[in-house]
Order: sequence, then structure tokens, then C-alpha cells
Amino acid sequence: MAVRTLLSRKTLASVLLRNDIGAGGMAAAAAAGAAQTHSRGIHALTLPDLGYDYGALEPVISGEIMQIHHQKHHQTYITNYNKALEQLQDAIAKSDSSAVVKLQSAIKFNGGGHVNHSIFWKNLAPPREGGGESPHGSLGWAIDTHFGSFEALIKKVNAEGAALQGSGWVWLGLDKEFNKLVVETTANQDPLVTKGSSLVPLFGIDVWEHAYYLQYKNVRPDYLKNIWKVINWKYVSEVYEKESSA
Ligand SMILES: [Fe+2]
Repeated sequence: MAVRTLLSRKTLASVLLRNDIGAGGMAAAAAAGAAQTHSRGIHALTLPDLGYDYGALEPVISGEIMQIHHQKHHQTYITNYNKALEQLQDAIAKSDSSAVVKLQSAIKFNGGGHVNHSIFWKNLAPPREGGGESPHGSLGWAIDTHFGSFEALIKKVNAEGAALQGSGWVWLGLDKEFNKLVVETTANQDPLVTKGSSLVPLFGIDVWEHAYYLQYKNVRPDYLKNIWKVINWKYVSEVYEKESSA
């Protein structure tokens, strides 16, 4: 039976996106400020602005890295995601189910890249705007409860981030089913939700080489050690408060 007769274009596109990226991931991206415009009847993504200047995270992350990371890498994920969505629309219009299936990997990779980076920019803040200040309140208590201490959390994230082979992300997440904090890694541009449908990202650290190589060369552990000086715990705490009470 033709795909088109089973699902409308809009519904099928929605199903594919939810299966590949996860509704939580898209919601997280939307919450992180991802702008959207309409193109050919579908939502085309546009690059979200940063809440700070490219050089504002120096000396932890250089302005050159931030500019290239945002304007080139994140933009490329968006460009390729939008292109894949247009191709998906055409494939659905032609009832070409093989093409529909083939496009899923591009949608997952590039859509995941957009979701993850939209969260990442929000996870960072210049020190003069509170970046690096330790978490307080309920998130601080939860970290002590689940990891023993804030220092123990840092140690765990740094160890898992350094050990991740190839490219990917290391996350602090909330498992909403068990109301528990977790540290997880994902490969490539897989969003955290791919590790479990009840997982919500609180913050993610990009450990692709493009996130640190121009400054830290091959020494990923030094990048991980320093990035805590610009983590925006105020934002992370707000996400935790919202998600843990929902
Ligand atoms: Fe990146």
C-alpha cells in the first residue's frame, strides 16, 4: 500500500522526526531558541543567535572556535537538515518509500546536530554573567544525592567525555521516569533521547574535535577540565526545575 494513502505528508514527516530525533529533543531545541520559518509548507530551521559574543568565553573557549563552530558547523547541520526535509517532502509526494527511509539518517544526523548545538550554546555563559558558578538549590541537592558531590559529577563527566571514542557528546540528563540524574554519552550527533525516551538533557558538552581542536589540539581532557568555568548553571537549574516538576 502506498505510503501516501497511510499517512498525510505532514503526519508522516512528524512521525519520522519523532522517531529519529525525539519529541523531547525537538522541544529542547525549541526551548533553546531555535528559530523557524516556513518554506514549501514545512518548517525550515534557521541559525539561533548566541546570547553572548563569540569572544566572551575566552580564555576557556576562543572566539575563533566559537565563531566557526556556530557560523559554519551549526549552520551546516541546519542547511543539510532543511535540504533533507525538502527531499523528504518530494519523496512522500512521489510515494517513494525507499527514498523516505533513506533520508532518515540525514534527518537524524543533521537534525540531531541542530538540537544538540542549540542546547550547547545555552549551556554556556561568560564568567562575568555567572558562567562557572556552582549550582545551588534543588539541582545542587540532586547532584549531591546522585553523584556524592559536585566534584564527583565533574570527575565522572570528564572521564566519560574523555573516554568517548570518535565524535559525540557527554550529557548530564534527568531520567524523568525515575526522577534521577544520569551521565550519558551519545555518538556523533545523536541527541540524549536516543539513549532513553524518558531522558531529558540538562546540559551537554560537545566533544567533537571541532569544539576544541584549534585551541586544545588533541588534548580533549584539558578542554573538559576548563569548560566548567563557563557552564551556565543558572540555565541548567531552570531546566531542571521545570522538568523535575512536570
Ligand atoms: Fe559541535
